[in-house]
Amino acid sequence: MGRLLKEVLKDKLTASELKSLYAGFDIIGDIAVLKIPEPLMLKRHLIAESLLKAVKSVKTVLQQTTPVEGEYRLRGLEVLAGEPKFETIHKEHGCLYKVDLRTAYFTPRLSAERLRVANQVREGEVVINMFAGVGPYSILIAKKVREVRVYSIDNNPEAYRYMQENIKLNKVEGKVIPILGDAAKVIRNTLQQVADRVIMPLPEKALSYLSDAYSALKGGKGIIHYYEHIFYEVSEDPLLKAIEHISNKALFRFNVDYAGVVRDVGPRLAQVVLDLKVD
Ligand SMILES: C[S@@+](CC[C@H](N)C(=O)[O-])C[C@H]1O[C@@H](n2cnc3c(N)ncnc32)[C@H](O)[C@@H]1O
Repeated sequence: MGRLLKEVLKDKLTASELKSLYAGFDIIGDIAVLKIPEPLMLKRHLIAESLLKAVKSVKTVLQQTTPVEGEYRLRGLEVLAGEPKFETIHKEHGCLYKVDLRTAYFTPRLSAERLRVANQVREGEVVINMFAGVGPYSILIAKKVREVRVYSIDNNPEAYRYMQENIKLNKVEGKVIPILGDAAKVIRNTLQQVADRVIMPLPEKALSYLSDAYSALKGGKGIIHYYEHIFYEVSEDPLLKAIEHISNKALFRFNVDYAGVVRDVGPRLAQVVLDLKVD
């Protein structure tokens, strides 16, 4: 995508302007979302129109006007060019995800991580996705594994509505069970000791929900995919920091099967994943 932007805007922007733009550029379905850095604000319509003209698959260019924020992880968006719309269908690993980007969270930047997790799920497993959004982890798992049950929880009614629609769109009814509600409450009330695997893709809250994730594991054994945002100094390793952090807080014993930086989410701020093997 960096090459694409470079090609489209090479005569209109300097190399450093292009670089700053690339960091905040996503294509979701037929919508391009741009974060416009302050020095490029006056050129934003030119940038958006050029992109629209050059990339046939893009029908709408949106500007992200706020960071992803709040309980539902939403961002402010404004139309810069093209069709004035916020809803699209994104294709990822052969699955289709319909989403309104104003009302529900979706990022294509977790595509490789979703596949990494889905590839670990074995036949016959019960999985809980505590923070499922419009369903991308859950649906990919259901598509890849013949016999699986994925309890897929989100507390945003709009994300839940799209998740229901996406389950039908991808024909995984009965394998992905959509649940609207707070993940901790749902687990405490209905999903104690049922899961082989729990996914926690909400780095801002994962730590405070960790004991609930543990309580959902069958016989206190299984895998927890734990995500966290870690600030780190140049001299520090964000993975070691995350492991230390969780070791100080977790009230159960675990081994770290895998630790990885999923992506950078800010200067010296990494999204980290730890696969915790609990037994
Ligand atoms: C970062 S998004 C991840 C969505 C999805 N897993 C994905 O990969 O696109 C986190 C989701 O958690 C939901 N959420 C926030 N707090 C929650 C809670 N207490 N219980 C259930 N879902 C929650 C938000 O509405 C949001 O859709």
